[in-house]
Amino acid sequence: MRELSVMKQAAREAGTILLEMQGKIVAREKGPADLVTEADVAAQHCIQRVLEAEFPDYGFLGEESDSAGGTVSESCRWVVDPIDGTTNYVHGFDNYSVSIALQQEAVVAGVIFDPVHNRMYSASLGGGAFLNDVPIRTSDVGSLDKALVAASFPPGVQREAVEVKHFVEVLVKCQALRRLGSAALNLCYVAEGKLDAYWATSLKIWDAAAGLLVVTEAGGSMSNIEGGPVNLAKPRLIVASTDSLLKEMVDTLALVTE
Ligand code: IPD
Ligand code: CA
Ligand code: CA
Repeated sequence: MRELSVMKQAAREAGTILLEMQGKIVAREKGPADLVTEADVAAQHCIQRVLEAEFPDYGFLGEESDSAGGTVSESCRWVVDPIDGTTNYVHGFDNYSVSIALQQEAVVAGVIFDPVHNRMYSASLGGGAFLNDVPIRTSDVGSLDKALVAASFPPGVQREAVEVKHFVEVLVKCQALRRLGSAALNLCYVAEGKLDAYWATSLKIWDAAAGLLVVTEAGGSMSNIEGGPVNLAKPRLIVASTDSLLKEMVDTLALVTE
């Protein structure tokens, strides 16, 4: 698939920019505890330039675009998060990534690049999932008491938020629970079997589009928080290594009433 190699090229070039700019830029808040930097904007421009040079007719939806709140046809568009994990990036905590998906109604290709560790995750629909071109699979962990789990919180989460109650409920049942800071990388970690499950209630399409394809192509299971289909436009999702672990996660989160 020619698109996939161009997506990897764009992600690598953006990653180089991120490494060059790290520690030299200042962040500003675009919402409470929601950071953006010149590096987010520079990386997105780079990705758009590389993709549009090869595929000038495809639409472009990027987190830092003016069109991010508007409409770009889902029939053929790139969905881009230039830095997933900006707070980590700003603090020099080496867990962030570049995420690029190709959506043609369904997501048909995705790449997530971790530039610090030179890890390129990729997947195409029906074509499997890969880390640096080596196939990856989820773990076979089937129960929460054996599972290493991660969660994402929305920026500026409040003490009484349902996300905090979810966190406590899973914390007391799983083997261990992490909050790492890049939704896209969490999805890839489930895909390669480092994590066994991950959930989030507040993601945007650019956080999840590429990573969900990576995890499902690696054999993982996914649902929305209630156990139904994931709505990519407003992802409230759970992914897990196995169907049985997914079901236990759905049942555990359902114990919390808002
Ligand atoms: C954020 C990260 C984080 C998640 C937030 C996202 P950003 O993306 O994915 O893990 O908890 O909900 O907004 O702002 O760093 O691109
Ligand atoms: Ca993001
Ligand atoms: Ca971002």
